[in-house]
Amino acid sequence: MTGQDSDYGEFLKLVRGRRTIRAIKPHPVPAGTVQQLLEAARWAPTGFNLQPVELLVVEDLELREAVRKIIQDWIDSDFYVLEATREDWQGAPWKPETHGMLDCPMAPLFIFILGDTRRLVGLPMNARYSRQKADSIFETSLANAFMYLWLAAHSLGLAAQPVSAVKNERVQGLVKHLLNLPDFIYVYELLVTGYSAMEGGPSAKLLRHLDEMVHYGRAADDEFLTETELRKQIRKLRSGNVARHTEADRINPKRSD
Ligand SMILES: Cc1cc2nc3c(=O)[nH]c(=O)nc-3n(C[C@H](O)[C@H](O)[C@H](O)COP(=O)(O)O)c2cc1C
Repeated sequence: MTGQDSDYGEFLKLVRGRRTIRAIKPHPVPAGTVQQLLEAARWAPTGFNLQPVELLVVEDLELREAVRKIIQDWIDSDFYVLEATREDWQGAPWKPETHGMLDCPMAPLFIFILGDTRRLVGLPMNARYSRQKADSIFETSLANAFMYLWLAAHSLGLAAQPVSAVKNERVQGLVKHLLNLPDFIYVYELLVTGYSAMEGGPSAKLLRHLDEMVHYGRAADDEFLTETELRKQIRKLRSGNVARHTEADRINPKRSD
């Protein structure tokens, strides 16, 4: 085995092992471990090396509780009202007990991934004047930091749950107010982390087959799933996620499983 092969082996082990864990113990994370996490995020590549990422660490119990309340109020008001409008093919709306928003408010460490929108002035002019391109570069840069952080957490034996509810305008506004964040800061994501409280680890993961998602050269007419196949697959993927499934780790409607 070459050195590169073994790097890949380690890498694959890391990415396959990273999961969303929605049960986290309240035990504190040592300061040194927190620093290791943050250091990993610093290395994430960003568009044009503009480095718009800001990381906000929240360990204070009162602040964590205030964040939880903001999210819970939003769930109780807006979220379920909108969920009730789901189309039939999507199946039943999410229920309160399976909402997957902020499932472990007692987790000791909240890390907000923030973006400084002022840094967009550094983009080349073609991107600076294209809202879509600028937004895409900005979001992807923040996503990279988010994923580095998540992988680093896993490598350090920590469990983590992303909490995307912070992107919702109402939650975003209230969180910014709570944490005294200036207007130019965008709250991209919240990663809630600490030590896992999940017994037996997460269930098997439903994954698409590689041969369904990889394409070579010019696409054939039947290379992409039909609308019906796609919806069937999405429904299976989503229900697996919400119901904490235990079934097989693979899915492919073209193979009738
Ligand atoms: C961009 C992004 C946002 C996510 N937001 C949430 C969230 O708000 N709440 C949650 O419980 N999980 C969230 N997740 C976790 C996904 O549901 C999870 O990654 C997916 O079901 C695959 O499971 P795995 O992470 O265990 O591999 C998010 C994941 C990503 C990549």
